[in-house]
Amino acid sequence: MSAAAPVVELKQITKRFPGIVANDSISLTLEKGEIHALLGENGAGKSTLMNIVFGLYQPDEGSIEIGGKPVIIDSPNKAIELGIGMVHQHFKLVDPFTVTENIILGTEPKKGLKIDYKSAAEQVRKLSELYGLQVDPHARIHDISVGMQQRVEIMKTLYRGADILIFDEPTAVLTPQEINELMAIMKRLVAEGKSIILITHKLKEIMTIADRVTIIRRGKVIDTVRTSETNPNDLAEKMVGRGVTFKVDKQPPNIGKAVLKLDGVNSKNKEGISVLNNLSFEVKAGEILGIAGVDGNGQSELIQAITGLRKIDSGSITMEGKEIANLSPRKITEKNVSHIPEDRHKHGLVLDFTVSENMVLETYYRSPYNRNGFMNKDIIDKHAEKLIREFDVRTPSIHTSARSLSGGNQQKAIIAREIEKNPSLLIAAQPTRGLDVGAIEFVQKQLIAQRDQGKAVLLVSFELDEIMNVSDRIAVIYEGHIVGEVYPENTNDQELGLMMAGSLKQGGNSGV
Ligand SMILES: Nc1ncnc2c1ncn2[C@@H]1O[C@H](COP(=O)(O)OP(=O)(O)O)[C@@H](O)[C@H]1O
Ligand SMILES: [Mg+2]
Repeated sequence: MSAAAPVVELKQITKRFPGIVANDSISLTLEKGEIHALLGENGAGKSTLMNIVFGLYQPDEGSIEIGGKPVIIDSPNKAIELGIGMVHQHFKLVDPFTVTENIILGTEPKKGLKIDYKSAAEQVRKLSELYGLQVDPHARIHDISVGMQQRVEIMKTLYRGADILIFDEPTAVLTPQEINELMAIMKRLVAEGKSIILITHKLKEIMTIADRVTIIRRGKVIDTVRTSETNPNDLAEKMVGRGVTFKVDKQPPNIGKAVLKLDGVNSKNKEGISVLNNLSFEVKAGEILGIAGVDGNGQSELIQAITGLRKIDSGSITMEGKEIANLSPRKITEKNVSHIPEDRHKHGLVLDFTVSENMVLETYYRSPYNRNGFMNKDIIDKHAEKLIREFDVRTPSIHTSARSLSGGNQQKAIIAREIEKNPSLLIAAQPTRGLDVGAIEFVQKQLIAQRDQGKAVLLVSFELDEIMNVSDRIAVIYEGHIVGEVYPENTNDQELGLMMAGSLKQGGNSGV
């Protein structure tokens, strides 16, 4: 007897989009009970391939077998029928509905003419227990965390009988704690006989959880390897096509005068709850101050306060000695503040504008871009050409809409624009979130280059590795308050973790 057929076999799948071969004769197999990672830089073709497996796209060439049988997957319904479920990057849940209502949406069990909500909720509870998902069947989506919402999406696929689960970059939206929990859930799923394809570009995750990994670069399979027979350096090199150093190279800082100073800043949200709580710190010229903390401890509010998107109730924020608290965002930008925002789609770029237009989003009204009320298109375009060249933004042209760029290239475009303004203070909020290692290296180098040019850099990141590697000094935020400041060379993940959890006030061995 021969070995069982793979649960999924892709045979030479090719998919073309105008001007690009997104998948170029890709073959891979998924074995039963396996976690198979799909690794590749942004734009490598991972989502396209999985959208084909889930019936959202049709391949131009190639075939698919499920359990050894050739199939045509011409719609998501067909995929579901074949036992395939997909957890997308952006959730498709109905906010005011309960968990159960979302899970049964479209396949409501009936009792006579009425929906049998009770038995559905019971089934949801059972599934939750079996896989350790811990979701409350009756909770409303808008009341639960992003991590929980993702579990509802997982549950939706399980409820529909999926045996093959596809996760498209599931950890991009999660906190470190939630990531660990998701890993445990995935292990549970395969232990119960499910098979998983996991799209990610995080090497750590792959090494922890995947059995095999297929590396895709520019639409082609580079290799498929067992994680037990590889290492992160090897994977990174295969992914980007060159060696990648994980250590960030930097010289000791040459620190100057304080540029940004926050003193006793307080701010309440609409509900009257304190989100910034007597918060004080300063960032000096020539240094990178990293703000470490678990998501939701005031990081976003802090940046909003500095950039003029949030009013503060008391305290002071000064930029090069001048008060900027509660000024308009434009006034603050004009005080030499640049900002790489957390949400590049909401605040960083206007997706329907061209790359060229996006490069002057905050400066278009000024000379030389604007003369006597007229936009100088030539100068704007030349400016954009220069920036995409210097910052290696990969785009077919400067007249392409920002929407069609990959995440990494969108981020490079924002960074180019913000750095080009030659600020005294550069605020970088989650600047590498969702980027692949090549782009991460690029972004971190740019931050260090700015610091070396004497700029003050404020880095806010949930990635502890990034905080440790890039910062010259670290301030830990907890519940809207700085609970301690440490130097990276005198601390470690454990101490920072305790401070981030609010159980340690000041680094024990830091002496800041
Ligand atoms: N619907 C589409 N139309 C045109 N081009 C697309 C479409 N979807 C993806 N692409 C292009 O195909 C390439 C692969 O994209 P994608 O599969 O999303 O990559 P990944 O998921 O690895 O980041 C990219 O160059 C992307 O711009
Ligand atoms: Mg993708």
